[in-house]
Amino acid sequence: MKNVKVGLLGLGNVGKGTYKILTQNSEKISVFSNSKIDIAKILVSDVNKKRDIDVPKDILTTDAYQIINDPQIDVIVELLGGIDTAYEYIKASLESGKHVVTANKAVIATHGMELMNIAKENRVLLLHEASVAGGIPIITAMMKPLCGNEFQEIIGIVNGTTNYILTQMSENNMEYEVALKQAQEKGFAEADPTSDVEGEDAAYKLTILMLIAFGVYVDPKIIPREGITKISKEDIEFASQFGYKLKLLAGAKNSSGRLKYYVYPTLVPDSHPLASVNNEFNALFIKGDAVGELMFYGKGAGSMPTGSAVVGDVVSVAKCIGTDLLDVTPSQPYPITEEELELTGESKSMYYINFLVGDEPGALGKVSTTFGNHGISIQSVMQRSRGLADVPVVYILHETKRYQLDDALAEITQNKYVKEITSILRVLS
Ligand SMILES: NC(=O)c1ccc[n+]([C@@H]2O[C@H](COP(=O)([O-])OP(=O)(O)OC[C@H]3O[C@@H](n4cnc5c(N)ncnc54)[C@H](OP(=O)(O)O)[C@@H]3O)[C@@H](O)[C@H]2O)c1
Repeated sequence: MKNVKVGLLGLGNVGKGTYKILTQNSEKISVFSNSKIDIAKILVSDVNKKRDIDVPKDILTTDAYQIINDPQIDVIVELLGGIDTAYEYIKASLESGKHVVTANKAVIATHGMELMNIAKENRVLLLHEASVAGGIPIITAMMKPLCGNEFQEIIGIVNGTTNYILTQMSENNMEYEVALKQAQEKGFAEADPTSDVEGEDAAYKLTILMLIAFGVYVDPKIIPREGITKISKEDIEFASQFGYKLKLLAGAKNSSGRLKYYVYPTLVPDSHPLASVNNEFNALFIKGDAVGELMFYGKGAGSMPTGSAVVGDVVSVAKCIGTDLLDVTPSQPYPITEEELELTGESKSMYYINFLVGDEPGALGKVSTTFGNHGISIQSVMQRSRGLADVPVVYILHETKRYQLDDALAEITQNKYVKEITSILRVLS
């Protein structure tokens, strides 16, 4: 049996989960990997910090290069977070001939292509299963058992924080701020939740998914995105009355060579499998030309679920060490497509529009007529009279192009009865 030495960079949430799994399940892991896997050193920022895990103090260090330059260490597991320092350490590790496993979506979405090429040049592996949807093994599934498919569409609920908030708003009638506070208290949201609630985290994950599924690199900064901070309880209630759940979706679709991609809060029909994905859970709905529709569901974050994905990668690396498996591993570099896909970002969509309209006879008819004049057809409309001068009127519109919608809305807002457009949301069709 081989001896495989691991250097862990980080002993936070995921670091602790990874450490626990590798030590508690070591017997099973050694059978599967045909290796004795030991954690030789761990990088932390403070060796004297009180930790709720029993780790020998003499393996902790604050000097990353004591680990990266250690000739005994075969695998570096980067679990620090952030971009610049993590990138520096991953690059240095690969260049020194070490395999790397990371859970860091920000680094992979930003520098993944370059790092994969460095890994290839140095004949080492760079694996990052935990970088998308934590415990759900979506990357391995797309790279290995599903690799014979042409992927047509991926739609994911890939951020547990926002899914938890939207679920609480829907099921327990909470306002956004209250649901966010509860998510923070339960450890599902960070003290600074900006990256999650503004959709940046989901965009990083979508970049990685598109790289693997479609063989194209789309910079996360150019992915059209909206977060959930403007979502109101009222919109969630209306959505529910129309037969939809509101979810933050990260989606990409290949329509005859045109790749459409987005991160948007979206109304998902109750009949769609993604509608029943609640709280901190994640899910990925995939269409492949051979396999058809698939749905992956599970915990997208957390110490042990994310550690589970990290350990899976460590075992894959251990299996390769000392063999020629590196020649056949499909994980590097990404299969960049020969045929250029046209990256279109946003295209046609169904829309949900919530207006505040004066409660006057004929107001609804005028709005509906304007949509018709712009070639936009209406699927449903709901007006809620509440005894006030202004009432919400909500439309679900059939598929239309965004510029067509904007033209219609510009005309509608000239109407003296229309006080405000309260919200515009996409509807999954
Ligand atoms: N948390 C999740 O559920 C989850 C899920 C999927 C992916 N991820 C990804 O996993 C990675 C780690 O996340 P996490 O939640 O485990 O983070 P975390 O709890 O903040 O832990 C970070 C760890 O790295 C150490 N560290 C950070 N910067 C350092 C530096 N410059 N030098 C030395 N040590 C440093 C910290 O040391 P101290 O302990 O001394 O402070 C800590 O042990 C991130 O890339 C994250 O995006 C996390």
